[in-house]
Amino acid sequence: MPLASRTSPLLAVVLSACNSVDPISIAREAPATWAPEDTIYLNGQRYFWTSRWYDTRATNRIALPVGTPVKLVIASDDREHRLYFPQLGLDIVASPERPAEVWVTMQTAGEWRSRCVQECLPEHPEAMTLNLLALSPEAADDWWKYELWGEWEPESRPAPHGAELLRTRNCMNCHALDAPGAGPPLRNFWGSIAMASDGRMLRVHGEPGIALIRDSVFAPTAFPLFGYPTPMPSYVGQLDDEQLEAIVALFRCLPDPYRQTCEGLPEALAQGPWRLD
Ligand code: HEC
Repeated sequence: MPLASRTSPLLAVVLSACNSVDPISIAREAPATWAPEDTIYLNGQRYFWTSRWYDTRATNRIALPVGTPVKLVIASDDREHRLYFPQLGLDIVASPERPAEVWVTMQTAGEWRSRCVQECLPEHPEAMTLNLLALSPEAADDWWKYELWGEWEPESRPAPHGAELLRTRNCMNCHALDAPGAGPPLRNFWGSIAMASDGRMLRVHGEPGIALIRDSVFAPTAFPLFGYPTPMPSYVGQLDDEQLEAIVALFRCLPDPYRQTCEGLPEALAQGPWRLD
C-alpha cells in the first residue's frame, strides 16, 4: 500500500519535539506538496464516522502522518453532520448534497478527539466522535495497515464477557471509560500511545498491545504507566488465559463497540455500572 513516508522521519521528530508548533495547519486549497492519493474519505452517518484510505477502513478513528498534507473529503449519508475539533480549530460541516473538502497537515504527534455537536447520544458518548491520531509517517502507514481489526476475527465473540469481567473483578473501581482515576481511562487505550514512567513508548495495538494488556494484569510493574506512581495490583492466579483473551477482546472493541466483531458489547456496556467520567 503506497502510504509510505514522504517526510523525512527526522523532520517529523523535530516538529513533534517543538511544543510551540501549532499541531495542525489547515488549508482550503491543495498545498503544492499534496499528492492526490493522500486523500481520506470520511463519511458521517447516525451515529458514527467511517473513513477510507486506499483499501483500508476504520470507524470513529483515523491516523494522519505528521508533516504530510492530507485531503479530507467529508461526506454525509443522511443529514448534516459536523466534525468539530475545538483544540485544533477544525470545524467542518458536511451535508448530504455536497461533501466538504479540506487539506490538513499535522505538525506534531498527538491524539485528539472531536466533540459531538450534532446527532449526539448522551447514553453513548462515543457516538459521532472521531479520534484523530497524528503519528510519524511510518507509524501512520502501519496503523492503517494493521490497526485495530486487521486479521482479527475471533471464533467466539468474547468482548461482552470481557466487559462482565471488568465489572465483576472490580477493575472499574480504579478505571473509568473516559477519565483518569486511580488508573488510566480505558475506552481509547487500544490504539493509543502508552508511555512508561521511564520514558518507553508503546503503541497499543497488535501483538505488543496484547502483551501490554497481559502485563498490566499479571505483571503491572513491567510497564508502569507514566503519571500513575502506584502500580495496579497483580491478578496472577485470579484470571486464566481465556479470561485474559476476553479482556483483550474488550479492549479492542471499546473504541468502536458497534463493530460486527464486537457483537453483544453495546448491550453488555448498557448493564452498568460503567463510570463514564
Ligand atoms: C486498585 C486500582 C486498580 C484496579 C482494581 C485495576 N487497575 Fe488497572 N491500573 C491501575 C493503575 C494505577 C494503573 C497505572 C499504573 C500501572 O501501569 O500499573 C493501571 C493500568 C492499567 C492498564 C494500562 C497498563 C499500562 O501499563 O499501560 C490496563 C490495561 C489496566 N490497568 C487494566 C485493568 C484491568 C483489566 C483490571 C481488572 C482486572 C484493572 N486494571 C484493575 C489501577 C487499577
